[in-house]
Amino acid sequence: MSTTFTLDTATSRAHPVPVPVPVPVPLRRLTVPAIQKRKGGEPIVMLTAYTARMAQLLDPHCDLLLVGDSLGQVIYGLDTTVKVSLDMMIAHGAAVVRRSYRSVVVIDLPFGSYEESPQAAFRTAARVMQETGAAAVKLEGGAVMAPTIKFLSERGIPVMAHVGLTPQAVNALGGYGARGRSEAEAAKILEDAKAIAEAGCFALVVEGVVEPLAVAITQAVACPTIGIGASPTCDGQVLVVDDMLGMFERVPRFVQRFDDLAARISDAAARYAGSVRERRFPGDAQLYR
Ligand code: KIV
Repeated sequence: MSTTFTLDTATSRAHPVPVPVPVPVPLRRLTVPAIQKRKGGEPIVMLTAYTARMAQLLDPHCDLLLVGDSLGQVIYGLDTTVKVSLDMMIAHGAAVVRRSYRSVVVIDLPFGSYEESPQAAFRTAARVMQETGAAAVKLEGGAVMAPTIKFLSERGIPVMAHVGLTPQAVNALGGYGARGRSEAEAAKILEDAKAIAEAGCFALVVEGVVEPLAVAITQAVACPTIGIGASPTCDGQVLVVDDMLGMFERVPRFVQRFDDLAARISDAAARYAGSVRERRFPGDAQLYR
């Protein structure tokens, strides 16, 4: 008797069928150059995604999916992103690429994996791209990262940069307050933005800065800016998806909640628990007769 068999993946939750949406969705992935061309044009939509199913749900609505190192806090309950490992980023990055079809997937390089030298950054970024299939990486930092951004970009690795409030530097910054409140700090961040844009980043996240600074950066750099706690004049916007869905009690000033999922999940769990305890679940419809 043959011992070989084929798995019936059609009954699996992982069956690779894109979620049907009301409008027809082209199943061709956007490209980094297509995103670059959106400078000053149609606003770029970016959300974080950390899991396959969430990627599948967000993908038709986004231009970019960011596998942010915010997953350390959102998924793993860590207190800062400093503790996020490269293996975590690669595992979640691969899941997001696997179930997205349209968006450009960008993966954060975690703290400690790229700062040392352009060569170290190249090795990390190449591993991320090879093992996940993502199209680009993101790294934090100002002018000091310009040589690294140039080195990667010239070697076929598109880099999204990140200035302003850079969470991996929380220990140096002393917290998560908005940046650019003093003239000197605003001037420094603007110079950082110009230096890394000049070095060749294809897009620039501007996080947690006073609004006039975000406007000035957007005007000063040739690449699209993507704001979070920045300005509506940025070329695009990003939010941490769990913040946007209302999964956390704490709502930072820059977040708008588009749902209240935490309350809905809690309510569903309470109703499930009640049904189990009163032996109303499983009902007839859930039994194999
Ligand atoms: O890690 C992340 O989610 C980010 C965004 C907040 C931009 O860097």
